[in-house]
Amino acid sequence: MQFLLHWLSWTGYQLNTGSGNEYQSEQVIGFPPSQAAKPRNYAALIPSEKAQLEVAGIPYPECGDDELIIKNHVVGVNPIDWKVQSGGFGLEYPVVMGEDVAGEILEVGTNAKHNFHVGQRVMAHTVGFDKGSSYGGFQLYPVLRAAITSPIPDDLSFTEAAVLPLSISTAAAGLFMNATLGLNSPKTDTIFSLPSTHVADNPVLLLWGGSSSVGSSVIQLASAAGYTVITTSSSSNFKYCKELGAAHVLDYHDPEVVPKLINLLKGNKVVGAYDAIGSVTTVLQCASVLEALGGGKISSVGAAPSNLPPKVTLARISGGALEPREPTVAMEVWGTYVPWALKSGRLLPRPKALIVGKGLENVQKGLDRQKEGVSAKKVVIAGLAK
Ligand SMILES: NC(=O)c1ccc[n+]([C@@H]2O[C@H](COP(=O)([O-])OP(=O)(O)OC[C@H]3O[C@@H](n4cnc5c(N)ncnc54)[C@H](OP(=O)(O)O)[C@@H]3O)[C@@H](O)[C@H]2O)c1
Repeated sequence: MQFLLHWLSWTGYQLNTGSGNEYQSEQVIGFPPSQAAKPRNYAALIPSEKAQLEVAGIPYPECGDDELIIKNHVVGVNPIDWKVQSGGFGLEYPVVMGEDVAGEILEVGTNAKHNFHVGQRVMAHTVGFDKGSSYGGFQLYPVLRAAITSPIPDDLSFTEAAVLPLSISTAAAGLFMNATLGLNSPKTDTIFSLPSTHVADNPVLLLWGGSSSVGSSVIQLASAAGYTVITTSSSSNFKYCKELGAAHVLDYHDPEVVPKLINLLKGNKVVGAYDAIGSVTTVLQCASVLEALGGGKISSVGAAPSNLPPKVTLARISGGALEPREPTVAMEVWGTYVPWALKSGRLLPRPKALIVGKGLENVQKGLDRQKEGVSAKKVVIAGLAK
């Protein structure tokens, strides 16, 4: 009976009443055999709608055939994390969020054994929002989908790697899925991977928000796929966007930014617009540019206003839809391009990490810092598992 009560409380969650980092090394004692030999798992979870994060014990997860379990070292923080915390998503609580992880593999599912091995260093896009809390990134031992995981080279730290995953999936979803812009996937070929600075050379992508986390991966993946990227940012980030591969960068604060973009793009083959900011204003700015060029499609990370001009269409992006809806694109990007590009230095870990704390107990601080706003920086929490 005592055993059952233990198990019932464990399948819920247990608040971490201990101090500091004591969650790091404990083993589960007196629990069912499947848990007894496993490390003790903890998460920074949202216990109820609109509540602050709490560090609590949660079950060590099961590893499915197409999955991996890692010992999690560093997590990235994204706007979705504090948006979910603000409530209104109709979720069942507790919820473990977190989409960007980097760590070392502890378990490999049967179907993932040809690509991954125990002890390997990896980064992954974690999908707790779509698949449930054992897939959330803000825990010591998250389950990863192997299809949206990449090995990381020895010279890339966990902190550097953790800035990338969600932005890669979101960039790929908006650029390459048939349901969005349907562009060609990036090539593992150095000629295609060199950014073009000549607008007329290649088909052109308009990107709104090149210095954002998502925008940084859009610049890199679209350039590697052979597209010339024209983007917007603050003038302080022009150099940053160009170093990632953008051919031209315009200041979005400039009241003349839309006519200037139209002038720049006129006469070029424009394959569409990627709005990496996704406000109603930015979508309508993209729409005005496309309308003046004769029409086209916008991929938006957020807003989908209904008052678009004729001949301008819009697809909403879901980074979480990449693997389930278009696994071939996920394979081309995550399975082929990303491992090669990280190793060859073609894919840079940007925006640079802004470490705001260490350990699960500091994840809330990370959410608060991300919500304040960042400029070409990615909030990360380091030092999770020891
Ligand atoms: N649908 C999905 O699957 C999905 C996935 C990931 C993210 N998102 C959403 O995508 C948005 C961006 O996320 P993120 O993590 O990339 O954001 P972020 O890095 O936190 O965004 C900050 C950046 O946005 C830029 N920015 C702000 N307003 C802008 C404007 N009007 N025009 C151009 N740039 C502007 C800033 O540029 P400067 O500093 O240069 O001014 C800054 O560098 C969020 O709303 C997020 O929730 C959606």
